[in-house]
Order: sequence, then C-alpha cells, then structure tokens
Amino acid sequence: MEMRELLREAAEAASQAYCPYSNYRVGAALLATDGRVFRGCNVENASYGLTNCAERTALFAAVAQGHRSFTALAIASSGDEPPFPCGACRQVLVEFCGPALPVWVAAHDRLDDAECVTLGELLPHAFTMNNSPEDNQ
Ligand code: THU
Repeated sequence: MEMRELLREAAEAASQAYCPYSNYRVGAALLATDGRVFRGCNVENASYGLTNCAERTALFAAVAQGHRSFTALAIASSGDEPPFPCGACRQVLVEFCGPALPVWVAAHDRLDDAECVTLGELLPHAFTMNNSPEDNQ
C-alpha cells in the first residue's frame, strides 16, 4: 500500500475524532502485515484523563480483531505541525511493533508534507519483556 493512501486513511479517521475539549483532531491508520488497515481517532472524556489517543484506539481495534503484526503507521491531525505520538502511545506501540516500524506524520490538510521516523527513533531503549509480537499471548 502506498504511504500516501495510508495517510489519507489517517486523515479520514481524524474526521471521526470526539474532541469537544481540545478541538484537536487526530487520526491513525495502522497497516497490518496482511494488508488490512485499522483506523483510530482520539476519543476524549469529561474527566480529561480518560481520553484515548488515536494511535492507541487504532492499535487496540486491530488487536481486538486478532491482528498483532504491523508494517506501518500513519498519523494525521488538525494541527499545523506533524503529530508525533505521545510517550504513552510510543510505549504501547512497542508492545506489538518493532523499532523499524515506519511512522508517518502529517497535518491532515498537508499530507504531501508528511515526515517519516521509525518507532525506534521515537522511543530508544524501550522497556519490553523481550516478547516478539508472535510470542505474545
Ligand atoms: N492525542 C492523540 O490522539 N495522540 C497523541 O499522540 C497525542 C494527543 C489527542 C489526545 C487529546 O484528545 C488531544 O490529542 C489533545 O491532547
């Protein structure tokens, strides 16, 4: 799949964001090894702290549907700057994705200006229990 297409999926996911408190839309599109794409958006809450980020929404949706192996992640947001994932999401991604995972980020109306970094660059020296994704129970 073209990364431009995965970014487009992320931008479409951002349109589903529930963000009445921040008014900041985030969408994520996670490409599984078998080619399926799992989308997520941020889902906010009146308690603020229970908000779920787009990246974790996408990952949890994929895992809940039996997918644990991924080849790329795209993230798009309504902000002006590329939406690099928060620390919590980086740690959760590491549970299922290796350091080579490409992470594409772009403002949703400037997908042509996307930047790409690896998960390993975003979270060096990550804490893991040394389970490969295939070994995870
Ligand atoms: N947000 C994400 O969806 N992903 C991130 O990596 C960082 C932040 C959301 C959470 C909240 O709804 C809004 O952005 C403002 O923090």
